[in-house]
Amino acid sequence: MSQSNIRPESMARINTPELANAFIEEQIREIRAQVGDKQVLLALSGGVDSSVVAALLIKAIGKQLVCVHVNHGLMRKGESEQVIEVFRNGLDANLIYVDATDRFLDLLAGVAEPEKKRKIIGNEFIKVFDEEAGKLSGISFLAQGTIYPDILESDGVKAHHNVGGLPEDMEMELVEPLKLLYKDEVRVVGKALGLPDKMVFRQPFPGPGLGVRCLGAITRDRLHALREADAILREEFDKCGLAGKVWQYFVAVPDFKSVGVRNSKRYEGWPAIVRAVNTVDAMTATIEEIPYDVLHRITDRITHEVEGINRVLLDLTPKPIGTIEWE
Ligand code: XMP
Repeated sequence: MSQSNIRPESMARINTPELANAFIEEQIREIRAQVGDKQVLLALSGGVDSSVVAALLIKAIGKQLVCVHVNHGLMRKGESEQVIEVFRNGLDANLIYVDATDRFLDLLAGVAEPEKKRKIIGNEFIKVFDEEAGKLSGISFLAQGTIYPDILESDGVKAHHNVGGLPEDMEMELVEPLKLLYKDEVRVVGKALGLPDKMVFRQPFPGPGLGVRCLGAITRDRLHALREADAILREEFDKCGLAGKVWQYFVAVPDFKSVGVRNSKRYEGWPAIVRAVNTVDAMTATIEEIPYDVLHRITDRITHEVEGINRVLLDLTPKPIGTIEWE
């Protein structure tokens, strides 16, 4: 493992399968040399970075890697299932799946303040992971999907973003094979490792997940509506080709209702707010123009297929002044 946290000037940008394969081979040698016959633990969220680290480590050390996937109940539709499918069924990974939905949602009940919600989710994540780690013996290493921008930005500014951040008192040596790579390189390596495009080109998703998009105090019924509406948005963006073009797109559902009508009866429901933005660094963002026919289709599907939603609204606010997320 490279000991340095500084990317050498001479390091070529990994942008071809050949360069990716060379990187993979080099890392496999270094990982084996570092780890020997010891076991390595990894928190596998299903995001790009942790998925690529997992695939790389599985290739290098197979079942010596123990992956823990904590489902905090705030994942998008089908995401935990995809982690299980790709890693347990596809790559035969040593994967521990923890459905901690009830723990998280019970703790979040009645909590409306965004930073408090984030803190609860972050702390509970560490607790669940810690408990799982405690059940295992003989683990000497902790793998992490740290990438180069994380190192460049580790000045505290984005500390609140690292929901997957793990306890500092874990006495394990770190394995961070991607720490000198930029995001685009991680994706090229992920593809070369055979991970599905859905995982490799996944749009950024905040650590606290749908928790910061189910606005105010989270309830299970509104969270369910949000998850279904978000899945429809993603499906329609996939179909019309916007998925590959837009940096981040999602639905947020606020905690108020408006009056509507369904089947000739009064139907009170929440609005689904659609947001689609483009950016390079997430510091500023512009609004993606969604064709009206696509918007009409999305509106039609969400209002007819999702229980509890009776309107669809479009957020046209760039960043600044709006942040990308609503909370
Ligand atoms: P904002 O809302 O600050 O978001 O404009 C900028 C980018 O960061 C993501 N984001 C988060 N990511 N934990 C994360 O891991 C968080 O708490 C969090 N809040 C925002 C957001 O999705 C966007 O890509």
